[in-house]
Amino acid sequence: MFFLTILLFSYLQMSQQIQKTTANDKEVLSNPRLIPVQGTLNVVMNQNVSLSCHSDSGSPPVRYTLFKHNQKVSTLNRPDLAPGLFNLTINSASDVGEYKCKAETNISSGGKYSNSLNFTLKEPISKPVLSSPTSQAKKGQNVTLSCLSENGSLPITYVFFKGRQSISPPVTMQKRAAAVIFLFISSSSDFGTYKCRAENSCCNITKYSNSFNFTLAGERSHSRPLIIALVLILLLFITGFALAIPFFIIPSYKAKKFKCTRSSTGCTSTVNAEDSENYVIYTEIEPVKPEEEYVNFSVIRREDEKGENLTL
Ligand SMILES: *[C@@H]1O[C@H](CO)[C@@H](O)[C@H](O)[C@H]1NC(C)=O
Ligand SMILES: *[C@@H]1O[C@H](CO)[C@@H](O)[C@H](O)[C@H]1NC(C)=O
Ligand SMILES: *[C@@H]1O[C@H](CO)[C@@H](O)[C@H](O)[C@H]1NC(C)=O
Ligand SMILES: *[C@@H]1O[C@H](CO)[C@@H](O)[C@H](O)[C@H]1NC(C)=O
Ligand SMILES: *[C@@H]1O[C@H](CO)[C@@H](O)[C@H](O)[C@H]1NC(C)=O
Ligand SMILES: *[C@@H]1O[C@H](CO)[C@@H](O)[C@H](O)[C@H]1NC(C)=O
Ligand SMILES: *[C@@H]1O[C@H](CO)[C@@H](O)[C@H](O)[C@H]1NC(C)=O
Ligand SMILES: *[C@@H]1O[C@H](CO)[C@@H](O)[C@H](O)[C@H]1NC(C)=O
Repeated sequence: MFFLTILLFSYLQMSQQIQKTTANDKEVLSNPRLIPVQGTLNVVMNQNVSLSCHSDSGSPPVRYTLFKHNQKVSTLNRPDLAPGLFNLTINSASDVGEYKCKAETNISSGGKYSNSLNFTLKEPISKPVLSSPTSQAKKGQNVTLSCLSENGSLPITYVFFKGRQSISPPVTMQKRAAAVIFLFISSSSDFGTYKCRAENSCCNITKYSNSFNFTLAGERSHSRPLIIALVLILLLFITGFALAIPFFIIPSYKAKKFKCTRSSTGCTSTVNAEDSENYVIYTEIEPVKPEEEYVNFSVIRREDEKGENLTL
């Protein structure tokens, strides 16, 4: 009986001790954990986010304080050991981090700090720009095409298209640099319309670039009409010159000859001989001569007549 009483007493003492130690354990404040309530650290501008700061043990009430870049942001009190929730809006690039929280209880001296946490800002992709250092190409030439989205969080994945057909595997860029492909222009279909497409992990958005065409070098659209116009002008000059011969050049030649006949008789006879010779030749081949030469002939004859009159 006595033995049993001692056993019971010692058991009660033991359980009391156990209760005491557990109570002490509960009172010891643990380091809080800071976690994003949404489960992801990827955020977009103007997004509302909640951060949970939670100490597993400690004697409530618990005071939670949130810090951003070691500056106090806000404070809240929990009457129990439930997590403290901080609500934030990401309004600027500085709102993404670095966050920490502190837990304090009335009986703890100082406080306990959490892990630090940074958000990653996801920016929607902007329309990519497709360009090439060479806008003109020849068959058999290697050309490059570059595709770049100025804005949009990294990494960015680009795909190149000719018409509606993709002509490259996806190119993923980890830094802000253009994706570049090399093209070998082998047929006229390679001068077709090119585009590229860009996407990143933000917001389920995909964007297509401007369209880009290579033009065939040396066959610019405006060069052909220019050549035609030049040829036409040249033809006009030639025609004008041809028409001018009978009216200006031959009369002045005649005038010279007239002077000659005045000074010496030998001169006159020579001119007459030449003229008659011309007359005979033209008459002979007249039926097969083109119209123009026929016109020349008749004009010359008229001049000859005049010349004879002058000589007489
Ligand atoms: C974010 O919270 C602010 C108030 O803090 C509210 O005015 C706004 O509508 C919320 N935005 C979204 C997208 O929930
Ligand atoms: C944050 O929002 C939750 C509900 O979404 C609310 O329970 C909590 O009290 C808010 N926290 C603060 C500090 O306003
Ligand atoms: C415990 O702290 C709360 C604020 O966190 C305060 O209002 C309360 O008076 C404190 N209690 C004791 C016993 O110090
Ligand atoms: C958060 O960003 C800061 C610099 O802005 C860096 O020093 C720190 O290591 C980052 N923390 C985490 C958890 O990535
Ligand atoms: C064009 O580039 C490819 C590889 O990029 C090369 O094999 C080919 O010889 C190049 N052709 C010319 C004409 O430079
Ligand atoms: C990229 O962002 C800057 C600053 O927000 C803006 O000025 C610019 O217009 C944007 N560019 C494009 C292509 O959206
Ligand atoms: C993106 O869009 C696809 C289909 O349009 C949808 O199934 C998916 O849930 C969307 N993802 C996000 C993050 O909105
Ligand atoms: C490119 O060429 C196609 C026809 O080949 C034409 O429809 C399109 O307008 C051209 N685009 C540009 C930007 O010149």
